[in-house]
Amino acid sequence: MSMLEIRNLTKIYGKFTALDDLSISIGQGELHGFVGPNGAGKSTTMRILATLMPPTSGTALIENVDVCRNPRRVRELVGYMPDFFGVYDRLKAWEYLDFYARCYGFSYRERMRMIDQLLALVNLSDKRESYVDALSRGMKQRLCLAHALIHDPHLLILDEPASGMDPRARAEMKDILRQLKEMGKTVLISSHILPELSEMCDSLTIIDHGKLVFSGSVEALSRRMNGNAPLEIRLLNEGQVEAAVPVLKEFPGVSGIVLTDAQQLNVSFDGDDEAAALLLKTLLLRGAAVLDFHRAPMNLEKVFMEVTQDD
Ligand SMILES: Nc1ncnc2c1ncn2[C@@H]1O[C@H](COP(=O)(O)OP(=O)(O)O)[C@@H](O)[C@H]1O
Ligand SMILES: [Mg+2]
Repeated sequence: MSMLEIRNLTKIYGKFTALDDLSISIGQGELHGFVGPNGAGKSTTMRILATLMPPTSGTALIENVDVCRNPRRVRELVGYMPDFFGVYDRLKAWEYLDFYARCYGFSYRERMRMIDQLLALVNLSDKRESYVDALSRGMKQRLCLAHALIHDPHLLILDEPASGMDPRARAEMKDILRQLKEMGKTVLISSHILPELSEMCDSLTIIDHGKLVFSGSVEALSRRMNGNAPLEIRLLNEGQVEAAVPVLKEFPGVSGIVLTDAQQLNVSFDGDDEAAALLLKTLLLRGAAVLDFHRAPMNLEKVFMEVTQDD
């Protein structure tokens, strides 16, 4: 059973279509990245999942519970961290969590135990007595994450939790996400920066202008994007170029050969992995000493720009 099933979700604000027939499925325990440029519809999707706003049409199921039909039950299953949160006057970190824990009706003993655990999880134990408005942005974000975890939800929806963080704070967030995964939580996390998520997520969805561009594993994305990446072929020495070039020129699928330095070739190649393996074998059989043979590494920033081009 999937943890989250988004079905033909559409949201129209006035005359503007912010989400256009979006369907995504996320498995239990997955750490799923939700990527798209600003205005793509990420926050809109997440607000609908958190039952803060109804869709225009379509729906989403969380553990088979419909967000439109049974929002109360969905709220028990979902922990939501918004992209924007207000300021809190004269509240200490622990009091902030205590306030929400009281809303859920936990006893004093339960609350004190839970607050200690949550503060430890988000690395804020030493800020227990600090006032919330005196915390750094990254700390406030982590406190909000602790808040989203109070009722022990199965699915966490985190709207751009790493935006505006420095590398150190991002590493800390990454570590917290890893712990959540170990706890068995399913996480949907958004960002407008693809590389930021691809390194920490199991799977990804990319949307643009409210439409699905890609949804699947990080490997599947790499494979799809890497399919057309040029081959970088490094030869043992300059002398090998003479042996290699004629083979390349007559090989099906090779459309361009550029000598990038004395012993390295950059080859445009329109063939799958099997064809690439055959090309390597042919080069070797025809006497070209190949030192290194690989697809040019995927530049995620570039991929993102390509898949989310302006229309
Ligand atoms: N309440 C609203 N009324 C009208 N348009 C909105 C509203 N909320 C968002 N939008 C528009 O919908 C689009 C998607 O917004 P949003 O979901 O916030 O995107 P993202 O989170 O990916 O940046 C944007 O063009 C935004 O301007
Ligand atoms: Mg947003």
